[in-house]
Amino acid sequence: MIVVGGSSSKTLATEISSLLKCDYVNAINQNFPDGECYVRIDAESMDDDVVIIQNTYPNNNLIEMLLLEDAVMSLGARTITLVIPYFGYARQDKVFKLGEPESAKVISQCLAARCNRVITVDIHKESTLKYFGCPYKDVKAADAIADYLKNRGIDVVISPDIGAVDRAKRVAERINASYDYIEKVRLSGTEVIMKPSKSNYRGKNILIVDDMITTGGTIITAAKQLRDSGAKSITVACTHGLFINDALNRLKSNNLHEIFASNTLTTSVSKISVASSIAIALKEW
Ligand code: R5P
Repeated sequence: MIVVGGSSSKTLATEISSLLKCDYVNAINQNFPDGECYVRIDAESMDDDVVIIQNTYPNNNLIEMLLLEDAVMSLGARTITLVIPYFGYARQDKVFKLGEPESAKVISQCLAARCNRVITVDIHKESTLKYFGCPYKDVKAADAIADYLKNRGIDVVISPDIGAVDRAKRVAERINASYDYIEKVRLSGTEVIMKPSKSNYRGKNILIVDDMITTGGTIITAAKQLRDSGAKSITVACTHGLFINDALNRLKSNNLHEIFASNTLTTSVSKISVASSIAIALKEW
């Protein structure tokens, strides 16, 4: 097996290749003077099972992934497995309003033209992956989050959304804490309201776990609810830390104990590595 690290995921790719004890091949990424993407794989031939690790967000990373697939194929790859730590466009997974595209399907079908298998991490909806038309796995970051945060005295793991309570349950069970959820209602892209929690969290150390933080609105609103219910401290962990528009600073100024993200995206708080979960998924295929 050969691992190729795209520009979004070089550190994660090196970590995965060393866990799998397989070769790591660098992909050179540059821009043409007009801004178009240029890639080149630093290898003579790739007559092997090749794994490309690269996000499809933001747009230039998506283009890079498409070009890497073709470069790897032209070097003779036997099979191509895409590892997409953060799958951009996954949230537009249906036509919400007449006239919209089904973006997740479009992107999956474009990438599918040159790959044999796909691995994502906490993709918005796993069913999106059926559009690849090839075997797929969605790795869950919950175990890595739990292992990183064990022994920190967390009493309760909270999901800021009833639909994602299984993630909180999985983390809680691994760190011997209890779990719960808050009911969220999204008013717009940036505004959410939470129904007051009926639980009493007086004196409890809380961990809020979410799949992604974008504007930070969900976490800030959830933290307020939890504080109003008596929480002693609030730690936050997410899989994908997008932290748009100064979201990280907004979160930091909201009296949160600590904020962590996984390394699907690279930020100053991406301390939790999903490398071993991805390596296991690759090895067990
Ligand atoms: C929603 O479905 C997700 O699980 C996250 O809660 C949401 O995307 C977070 O967005 P924001 O940080 O903008 O509230």
